Amino acid sequence: MYIPSAMAKPQTSPIFYSSVFYLLSSFVFLAYSAPQSALIKQIPGFSGTLPSKHYSGYVTIDESHGKKLFYYFVESEGNPLKDPVVLWLNGGPGCSSFDGFVYEHGPFNFEAANESGGLPKLHLNPYSWSKVSNIIYLDSPSGVGLSYSKNQTDYITGDVKTALDSHTFLLKWFELYPEYLSNPMFIAGESYAGVYVPTLAHEVVKGIDTGVKPILNFKGYLVGNGVTDEEFDGNALVPFAHGMGLISNDLFEEVTSSCNGNFYNPLSENCESKLAKVDEDISGLNIYDILEPCYYGTDTRDVADIKIRLPSSFLELGETDRPLPVRKRMFGRAWPFRAPVREGIVPTWPQLLNGQSVPCTDDEVASLWLNNAAVRKAIHADEESVAGPWELCTDRISFRHDAGSMIPYHKNLTVRGYRALIFSGDHDMCVPYTGSEAWTRSMGYEIVDEWRPWTSNGQIAGYTQGYENNLTFLTIKGAGHTVPEYKPKEALDFYSRFLAGKPI
Ligand SMILES: *[C@@H]1O[C@H](CO)[C@@H](O)[C@H](O)[C@H]1NC(C)=O
Ligand SMILES: *[C@@H]1O[C@H](CO)[C@@H](O)[C@H](O)[C@H]1NC(C)=O
Ligand SMILES: *[C@@H]1O[C@H](CO)[C@@H](O)[C@H](O)[C@H]1NC(C)=O
Ligand SMILES: *[C@@H]1O[C@H](CO)[C@@H](O)[C@H](O)[C@H]1NC(C)=O
Repeated sequence: MYIPSAMAKPQTSPIFYSSVFYLLSSFVFLAYSAPQSALIKQIPGFSGTLPSKHYSGYVTIDESHGKKLFYYFVESEGNPLKDPVVLWLNGGPGCSSFDGFVYEHGPFNFEAANESGGLPKLHLNPYSWSKVSNIIYLDSPSGVGLSYSKNQTDYITGDVKTALDSHTFLLKWFELYPEYLSNPMFIAGESYAGVYVPTLAHEVVKGIDTGVKPILNFKGYLVGNGVTDEEFDGNALVPFAHGMGLISNDLFEEVTSSCNGNFYNPLSENCESKLAKVDEDISGLNIYDILEPCYYGTDTRDVADIKIRLPSSFLELGETDRPLPVRKRMFGRAWPFRAPVREGIVPTWPQLLNGQSVPCTDDEVASLWLNNAAVRKAIHADEESVAGPWELCTDRISFRHDAGSMIPYHKNLTVRGYRALIFSGDHDMCVPYTGSEAWTRSMGYEIVDEWRPWTSNGQIAGYTQGYENNLTFLTIKGAGHTVPEYKPKEALDFYSRFLAGKPI
């Protein structure tokens, strides 16, 4: 990719006036070319002054299909010219990255309206990741969130195609915002983005190798509670349930011996029946955070009882400094129990449940906001009649897991010097930390920083183990599946340190 040079010498002869003008204007264009049409001027629900510039809109990645990906770009509130550019991806597959924007580490905290159906009130998030980075929230693949295509064949997709499309997006995005090409660049995501992130990173590195429009300052990536490998992820639940005291020691020993330690692919009826008992013991829990109550049905008040029956000390567990409570319900960011991600079609929650209500789910504030016509206009999103309704997770796409295990990708990337942070909310049962800990250890890298606590604000915030090749595994104590939602302060802390290349 062309990098602007300030050295172009203007010629002074009047004959060349127009070309001088051309050179100067093209320089100015290249140096400050963030598209002004993408600049957000006001945001419904927010009445203050934005601490940094926000841009949003579509990048068309296939003209003939009318295939467009939506992004929301938040400039750093620190030093936008120097701070890293981070691309953020939520998973699903089929979930919008506005999950990260609205519920996790975006610039605002969304306070639900008092009257039902009203627009939320937006407050500045003191722990926004835009404090230390320029961050792009990308809805990917097309069909997800606000991204769409005029040709429905694009909604049949998978890992490989998604990575290629996201790479195309990045290249085009940097054409629109070339002033950010010299910033360090990172890719981050969580849950099924445990597949999106390394596969996209791989495309970016291929671009560097082949010199075709390279993103030369790509430095590394972060994956939170990420889907990685069928076997490691599938074997993680039983030891997690045991370690957390959710199943009896006897059952743990029985299931371990009858399944021979292979839980992801039960080979005997005895193993199956023991696993069924494990499922029975944990099925009433909130899969995304075993400490949080589970909400049934659509009425969140249903659970008041459940909460009251808990001892108060239990309610206090995991207390942390956060501006608003975590949402009460969550919507499928991965897959339910016993339906691990395998090669082939990955069913979405709506597909699996066939219209039944999903336990422990919530998307209310985000849905109200992103389906409001004034909000859509303000953020340059197409109207609902064109782009469709915004859904936190959609079954509009049919998605194939076709990239296999992510472990070889992680190996390739880290061996080549790209830094990786594999982080895990240690109370998530959806992609439990036991799996991420096991696969990182399985890579055979030498341990250079032995398992130890890491601290934030003087308190132990979790545990970490550092490996050679700049691979770091990190837990966040008391956090669920979407770490920054549960522990925003600690999340901003490790995020800042990782981006700065400092030890955590
Ligand atoms: C809800 O009502 C309370 C009390 O009147 C008020 O302080 C708060 O700002 C209201 N919330 C919203 C989102 O309007
Ligand atoms: C949609 O895309 C497919 C594959 O490129 C193509 O065969 C088909 O003609 C397109 N449909 C329309 C309506 O353009
Ligand atoms: C790993 O990197 C090498 C080049 O260093 C490349 O040839 C190979 O295809 C890569 N493998 C994977 C799984 O990415
Ligand atoms: C680890 O990352 C640091 C900082 O980016 C870099 O200087 C160093 O070369 C990396 N080490 C390895 C082994 O890749």
